[in-house]
Amino acid sequence: MHQRVGVSAVEYTGVGFGKLLLFGEHAAVYGYPALGIALPLCTTVHLVDEGLRTELKRSTAESGLSAPDLPKKDREIVQALWEDLFRFASDSDNLLEHLRERRFTLQVRSDVPRSRGLGSSAAACAAFAGAWTAMEVGSKLPDSQHATWLLAHKLEHRFHGTPSGIDTGLAVYGGCRSFLFNGGELPETQALPPPAFPIVAAAVPRGSDTKALVAGIRRRREAGDPVVHQALAQLGRISEQAIDAVADGAPAETVAAAANEADSLLVELELDSEQVRYGLRLAKEYGALGGKISGAGGGGAFLAMFAPNQAEAAAAFAAALPTKLKKTGGEAEAIVILPPQLRPPSTKAESTTSGPA
Ligand code: MEV
Repeated sequence: MHQRVGVSAVEYTGVGFGKLLLFGEHAAVYGYPALGIALPLCTTVHLVDEGLRTELKRSTAESGLSAPDLPKKDREIVQALWEDLFRFASDSDNLLEHLRERRFTLQVRSDVPRSRGLGSSAAACAAFAGAWTAMEVGSKLPDSQHATWLLAHKLEHRFHGTPSGIDTGLAVYGGCRSFLFNGGELPETQALPPPAFPIVAAAVPRGSDTKALVAGIRRRREAGDPVVHQALAQLGRISEQAIDAVADGAPAETVAAAANEADSLLVELELDSEQVRYGLRLAKEYGALGGKISGAGGGGAFLAMFAPNQAEAAAAFAAALPTKLKKTGGEAEAIVILPPQLRPPSTKAESTTSGPA
């Protein structure tokens, strides 16, 4: 699926993928490179232009946007994002004034689990920004995907204090991508061939949010905690090596060993949770070669890597995890990410670089 999808006279659509961070979490905040992969899950935003507003008094305080299908709390978030768009978007040809005079209806569909570290807020920001860019451009901008990413990144500040741009990059571009930080507003990103083996993306409820977890590591780093300094540097080194390994099509064993090493460091950083540990142990019982905490930690996302001929074991683990964890009082979701060559024929068409990996 491509980010810039259907544009009609009155309806604009944007899509944002969920994400799984493979390597580089937390280290990325300090400039180390990171590697991630889009999930075959997405959020879609439809923005329908309903025509000119008929109210006699149009004040900028009154939003021209309605989202009748959403629960109240989500409607409030959507209104806030809508106002953010007016603040951040470029005002080419007095577009913003023109848009203020119109009524829009917003519909959102999503199968990205929320508050699980799988990039639901980035997916929503990317979908919102994609619909806006489709409306704004037709396609005047030379690189509308980059414009969408920048806009989505700005929107994501509403959810995370200092997002690195990784989640929104994966949400907008899809695929497997590296991210290199060079001091710009956004990192440089490059599409890589997706790993040629099954990866299970799993998630449990989070005990804390990304903002708090990143702030906690920052505090310890600034206080000179040697464990934190060393762990971040090693996570950065592992991520750098994993990017090269994945780019070179390294075998599953090599990448999984790097995942195990990174996991130990994330545990040292106290980002582990009981449910994640249970899930990673279970993955090993199902034959996983390796696995790790993924993303900010404190619960949330984790991943397990299987050998290329172990797609069935990966699927069995993904199916068993929610049931088994429920029996211990926990809760989990899991999805298998298959490389294009291991996908059933009907889904192979999705295996482009701009789409889920
Ligand atoms: C969150 O998915 C990854 C972190 O490194 C934060 C970030 O990069 O924005 C913890």
